[in-house]
Amino acid sequence: MNNVKAIILAGGKGTRMKSELPKVLHKVYDRCIIDYVYDSCKQAGIDDISIVVGHKYEKVIEHFGKENAKFFIQEEQLGTGHAVMQVKDNIKENDLVIVINGDMPLISSFTIKSFVSFLQLGNFDGALASAVFDKTPSYGRIVRDNEGNFSKIVEQKDCNEDELEIEEVNIGLYSFKGKHLLDSFSKLNNNNAQKEYYITDIPYYIMNDGGKVGVYMLQDSDETQGINSRSDLSVVTNTLLHNTREIHMDNGVTLIDPSNTYISLDVEIGKDTIIYPGTNIQGRTKIGEGCIIGPNSTIVCSEIGNYVIVETSKIAYSKIADNAIIGPFAHIRPKSNIGEFSKVGSFVETKNVNIGTNTKVPHLSYIGDSDVGNNVEIACGVITSNMNTKWEKNRTIIKDNAFIGCNSVLIAPITIEEFGAIGAGSTISKDVPSKALALTRSELKIKENYYEGRK
Ligand code: UD1
Ligand code: MG
Repeated sequence: MNNVKAIILAGGKGTRMKSELPKVLHKVYDRCIIDYVYDSCKQAGIDDISIVVGHKYEKVIEHFGKENAKFFIQEEQLGTGHAVMQVKDNIKENDLVIVINGDMPLISSFTIKSFVSFLQLGNFDGALASAVFDKTPSYGRIVRDNEGNFSKIVEQKDCNEDELEIEEVNIGLYSFKGKHLLDSFSKLNNNNAQKEYYITDIPYYIMNDGGKVGVYMLQDSDETQGINSRSDLSVVTNTLLHNTREIHMDNGVTLIDPSNTYISLDVEIGKDTIIYPGTNIQGRTKIGEGCIIGPNSTIVCSEIGNYVIVETSKIAYSKIADNAIIGPFAHIRPKSNIGEFSKVGSFVETKNVNIGTNTKVPHLSYIGDSDVGNNVEIACGVITSNMNTKWEKNRTIIKDNAFIGCNSVLIAPITIEEFGAIGAGSTISKDVPSKALALTRSELKIKENYYEGRK
């Protein structure tokens, strides 16, 4: 959207959260409150995004990275009107400016776009969005005149008894023509119950100056829920998770117990996949068709192919190819690529590995910093010893069709060539040629009638 700029207000102390963390960095499931608001602005097509930061601003800037937005520091938190004034150098008279509370994560890009069109089509000089909730929250009330036209917003703490009865509330989404917004700054004052400069006074000033102000009433109040307390955070999180579950079920995914299944907004899941309870799927994770996931599994930012089984396991930042079996109780750590028809079974940990097709690591092993080929059999209790005493990591290479016997330690850097075999209980520190057997097992001694001698 050309000439449209967004300002996200994120400088407040968030006192009601009772937290060391700035409010907007609290998480709604797996992402920070402000991430959702920022993404909705971006998805609405707005590229010029300013974020007003104040309380513990270093943390908010660090979270985003300086290059991803323009940051304006509000040194003292003197209110939402004061916050928006910090951005004045980035506002031109011909701009169309959206201002949005940074604590309203469920607002959609669709709503933002529609709201911009509302201002443009109605040729308003300023506009605000309102909603009616089942139970009126402690938000600013929209006061209208006898003909139903907008008069002003009154904060709950400044309301008289009649105003408290008003059900239509201000949700914290505004748009202004740049000139009118800039003109209003000189008029803002803090003569109110909270001794703050309120953004909510700006529409009133615009109207008083002969400008045209519109109110855009939203039908879906869920989207507009702001987060001021831990209780609000839980309500919003539940709404988001509920909506996401519905999307997946509509797409043909079975959730055995939806309320006990947690899926991030960014996740894609193919049809006929079944998800058992206690499962968390987070970040930009993609899961294919016909998979069985869970129970009690966590998958973070990973790519899972089709017909994969993941039972009671954790997978992070990894790729699992079609028809692989993970778990029960496997820990797939970052940069693990597990090939088709392969198995990483019980109590196996992998990290930074490439495992080929049809390779089995069924139980009790640690495979790290390794390249394992196809049709490899890694028996129980195998350790790739990847780190030396200088804390340097080295790779273990196990080529196709090799066999690694139980309880073996492979000391990297090391290569086991094709069809190489390692005898059980060996510690291997040299490369093993193709088709050879390597073993370090010491000679077995049996002393007959030893018990008798002990007596
Ligand atoms: C605000 C509105 C209220 C509306 C409600 C909707 C005002 C005065 N009131 O109240 O009418 O119904 O949102 O949720 O705006 N912030 C700053 N600097 C400050 C103060 C706040 O950047 O000095 C930021 C906060 O970080 C937050 C946003 O502005 O993201 C809103 O502030 P908050 O204190 O949550 O306002 P509400 O009391 O919710
Ligand atoms: Mg708020």
